[in-house]
Amino acid sequence: MPVSREDGLDVSTRKLEVLSGEFEPGINRRLISTNTDNGGGHMVIEIQAGWSNPKGYCSASQDIYVLEGDLTVGNEKMISGCYSFIPQGVSYGPFKTENGCRALVFFGAPYNFIRSDNHAPNTEIDRLRMNLKTWDIPWEDAMKDMVEKTTWKNPETGEPDRPAGTLAKILRWDKDPEEQIALVHQPPGTIDPGTEVHPHNECLYLISGDCYIGYTYDNKNRKMEDRKIGITIKKDHYLSRPPGIFHGPLVTHGGVYWMTYMSDGYHGIFHDVPEWREMSEDYFSKAIYR
Ligand SMILES: [Fe+2]
Repeated sequence: MPVSREDGLDVSTRKLEVLSGEFEPGINRRLISTNTDNGGGHMVIEIQAGWSNPKGYCSASQDIYVLEGDLTVGNEKMISGCYSFIPQGVSYGPFKTENGCRALVFFGAPYNFIRSDNHAPNTEIDRLRMNLKTWDIPWEDAMKDMVEKTTWKNPETGEPDRPAGTLAKILRWDKDPEEQIALVHQPPGTIDPGTEVHPHNECLYLISGDCYIGYTYDNKNRKMEDRKIGITIKKDHYLSRPPGIFHGPLVTHGGVYWMTYMSDGYHGIFHDVPEWREMSEDYFSKAIYR
């Protein structure tokens, strides 16, 4: 089994529990999904102001994105928008936070932290990426090279295409196993009119903005008893899709900013949703401007 399915989870409703490992009190987590492919998962960690902890290494690789607050790791101060990738077994720290911190963490194996000044044996230290300031990374038109993988046709040209508007900053893209971590943005008023399905895991954490997903259902379930219509999500909500989950159309009124996890690059396959215009305009008609 791959990632567990979540169709718009409000992460704040997840139980706050102690983060496992040799930590001082004051660091907790909300587990938001699990990945049975590797024993890993996704979580938000919440750290109390003034917390500190000695150096150590983790049993899992970690993609860390600071949502708010500050976290100093060694000589590097991470603030909102900073990203690090710390491979399994690499010793890092010591840690401290002045004002507290909330961070999104994608971990690649069962999670445990062991205090140590040294790396664990056989670590891949060259994969370490500490404290990328993501605002320095330019946006890319991530979809322009993927049009051959879509069945959606541009109504003006009749050619296979992808609706304009999706921009990305690739933070990590490993090939074996393939995992892609990216920040993704759709500007205000974007409508992606089809429904999409992937042969891979896809997870999205909504950092800011709003998003509407018209339909979500499992392709294998022909009766579509699990079909959800009109999911509205906002800041700190989360979507997690194992292979085969149809989703769309996607609409945003004020724009949307995501942190995303793909287990196998991006291979979307489109299907038409004839009623996409009615669904999109119904969402816009309920938009709140203040
Ligand atoms: Fe998708």
